[in-house]
Amino acid sequence: MNSNPLFITGGAGFIGSALIRQLIAESDWHIVNIDKLTYAGNLESLAMLSNNPRYVFSQTDICDRTALDRLFAQHKPAGVIHLAAESHVDRSIHGPADFIETNIVGTYTLLEAARAYSSSLPKAQADEFRFHHVSTDEVYGSLGANGLFKETTAYSPNSPYSASKAASDHLVRAWQHTFGLQVLVTNCSNNYGPYQFPEKLIPVVILNALQDKPLPIYGKGDNVRDWLYVDDHARALRMVFEHGTAGETYNIGGHNEKTNLEVVDGLCTLLDELRPRSDGKSYLAQKIFVADRPGHDRRYAIDATKIGRNLGWKPQENFVSGLRKTVAWYLDNDDWIQHVISGEYRNWMKQNYSNRESS
Ligand code: NAD
Ligand code: TYD
Repeated sequence: MNSNPLFITGGAGFIGSALIRQLIAESDWHIVNIDKLTYAGNLESLAMLSNNPRYVFSQTDICDRTALDRLFAQHKPAGVIHLAAESHVDRSIHGPADFIETNIVGTYTLLEAARAYSSSLPKAQADEFRFHHVSTDEVYGSLGANGLFKETTAYSPNSPYSASKAASDHLVRAWQHTFGLQVLVTNCSNNYGPYQFPEKLIPVVILNALQDKPLPIYGKGDNVRDWLYVDDHARALRMVFEHGTAGETYNIGGHNEKTNLEVVDGLCTLLDELRPRSDGKSYLAQKIFVADRPGHDRRYAIDATKIGRNLGWKPQENFVSGLRKTVAWYLDNDDWIQHVISGEYRNWMKQNYSNRESS
């Protein structure tokens, strides 16, 4: 076991919190969660760890170099898994500035802090220090009816979000090539599961359905996404961080291609079974087709052969089992949902949290 902790950035978000819960439950790692707590950061998703001695939270912006330097000097991490980002395509269309700032400038600032720290270490330790950048398949652009994204697929990002993630991927690669920082990059398909903020398709549909609101489907609903259950992504991230080859990219995907219409219909059918509407009608009646997203990518699909072959990873959930677990979680966790809807989740730290540092 490494006695130095692991830095997780963006650990109060959807995937970061799943990764931290999993690492605390299934490994010996000590975790320092570095998160600015934007609207997407929710410490209620980590409430069960607030007194755990292997977990520390620091409310820090990854654009703040002074604060990052202080954290590196204080905790001497064995590595960083970098998830902090602005992550929602629709928001990037309405306001790209935060995406440029956090995803590009923030990643650059974190890389520089990591480089300064690792170059202060004795050579053997510096060679072991790893910077794992968590990215998206959206950097590859859009597929037609056939084909899969491979690690060798040329970058062709279409949205401000995917362009900012592509830029950060390039910076990370350059920091290895030029400065010798030991980096890993993973590009993953669409995640779903518990604790996802209700701006992404699956939680929007579940929450709107339960509140008797319309279920908005962009365009004709025939765009295709390749869905991966979030705990499977977290398992893949741990495997790549611990066993991947520095300098390499790994694609992560669920082999679960679905049209958006199939996803919405599947959710309505599950809700009809698990929480039927009081008037006896199906939730399908709440579907509406709305104006398409500008520049909407047609299809994403991942070839995950490399991570399977080299590291032995494969998803444990299929879409049927994962979607059922997800709907059941939202039905069982009304407090989490109500606090997100009311905005109360943003005060949670002030009221409840002891295990934190301020930067
Ligand atoms: P999220 O939006 O749920 O969480 C992002 C977290 O980053 C939040 O806790 C937020 O407070 C934090 N953050 C934002 N700006 C910050 C800053 N400047 N400094 C420090 N913290 C900051 O995102 P997610 O869905 O959990 O995605 C995590 C990562 O995985 C992102 O890098 C995203 O690009 C990538 N990814 C997401 C998906 C997906 O389907 N959600 C798929 C592939 C890759
Ligand atoms: P989203 O969850 O925003 O993820 P991404 O844009 O990163 O793939 O969207 C998933 C798909 O669902 C995408 O094709 C857009 C579509 N969508 C809708 O049809 N309605 C919605 O309300 C949302 C949020 C997304």
